[in-house]
Amino acid sequence: MSPVKIGIIGGGLMGREMASAFARWCALTDVSVRPVLTAVADLNPATLSWFDCIPSCTQKTTDYKALLANPDVDVVYVAVPHNLHEQLYCDVLAAGKDLFAEKPFGIDLASARRIHAAAKASGRFVRCSSEMPFFPGAQRAFELAKSGSIGRILEVVSGFHHSSDLDPTKAANWKRLNSMCGEGGALNDLGMHACHIPLRLGWKPSRVFAQLQKGYPQRPDGKGGVTNCDTWDNALLNTWIKVGGHDVPMRLEMKRLMPGATNTWYIEILGTDGGVRYSTSDTKALWLFERGKEQFWKRTDLGFSTPFKTVTGGIFEPGFADVIQQMWAAYLMERAGLLNGRFGCATPDEAVATHEIFAAALQSQAQGTVVSL
Ligand SMILES: NC(=O)c1ccc[n+]([C@@H]2O[C@H](COP(=O)([O-])OP(=O)(O)OC[C@H]3O[C@@H](n4cnc5c(N)ncnc54)[C@H](O)[C@@H]3O)[C@@H](O)[C@H]2O)c1
Repeated sequence: MSPVKIGIIGGGLMGREMASAFARWCALTDVSVRPVLTAVADLNPATLSWFDCIPSCTQKTTDYKALLANPDVDVVYVAVPHNLHEQLYCDVLAAGKDLFAEKPFGIDLASARRIHAAAKASGRFVRCSSEMPFFPGAQRAFELAKSGSIGRILEVVSGFHHSSDLDPTKAANWKRLNSMCGEGGALNDLGMHACHIPLRLGWKPSRVFAQLQKGYPQRPDGKGGVTNCDTWDNALLNTWIKVGGHDVPMRLEMKRLMPGATNTWYIEILGTDGGVRYSTSDTKALWLFERGKEQFWKRTDLGFSTPFKTVTGGIFEPGFADVIQQMWAAYLMERAGLLNGRFGCATPDEAVATHEIFAAALQSQAQGTVVSL
């Protein structure tokens, strides 16, 4: 397997998740590239010390520019607050490195467009993180929708739900502040997850009506005080898409305040001849609609049928850490020209398209009107 040397900027929640996916790369059996974590940059020295458990990670620095100057780094993954995306992504590209960006790919639409332009001008390989489509159930829903076998599409629902913000004692972090998360709030935070598969199917909304809600205006700051929280927490977007010449309603749901939901990603696509439902809250269950003399929703338990094959037995169930690893396999194999028709990571075009949807949603909320894209 040819090694690809990776640097991570931002060793927080996602930085460490990615590092652990590299550490069990031996699970993958049909990839010919291997990530080697070589360097990490984070402002917090305590965060850097976690990376001591990875022997190949020999550069640990509080200065991300030192990581970018390291000739031993081929690809840089950046997982920092949204207000830093544009500066850091553009610095990665200017340093001549390939970029694996985090969503939402800039704090707002203008920022996303500038990053996109820099990526294009640099000629570097750039993709954006979005792992949920790599669940086998998501792949099946995507393939079924693409096949056309479900007839005329009647309705689409795609969403991502959390519930932990229902707890008013949960401390705020940067994701609850417009200045760092962006005006989009939950759209910036969860929107890529809801939009990725619809956009890959060519289902970009032409009209949007948004219903955005805020949660608690103040939360503990984690240091004994309280802090103001000003982001949108729930976003319900009622949109129109065009599929096969027909106008089809598509609902995009991004919620941090959804009673009972824990990182629940789901999609439902209904057609005249068939339909599909998949939710990560019941990881293995795929529901398929069958129209005959009688109409059935039938359920099957999916196994470990991930796009990239692994040593894990086919009957076992996949989880978050597995789809993160699958996403990296897609990034590295596509970078090497070896994707061979498998599902690729979100592109810069798709990332900008998500921001176009979010900007229309913010405008719709402000005006109380339907906004055309
Ligand atoms: N794909 C997903 O499922 C998913 C899930 C959560 C977050 N994210 C995205 O990942 C990104 C990071 O989110 P997170 O939850 O990991 O955040 P986090 O707060 O856990 O980690 C961010 C890290 O960045 C570091 N940092 C801040 N400024 C820095 C700088 N100038 N140089 C180096 N390090 C710096 C912080 O010290 C912190 O450790 C965001 O874009 C977020 O939207 C994606």
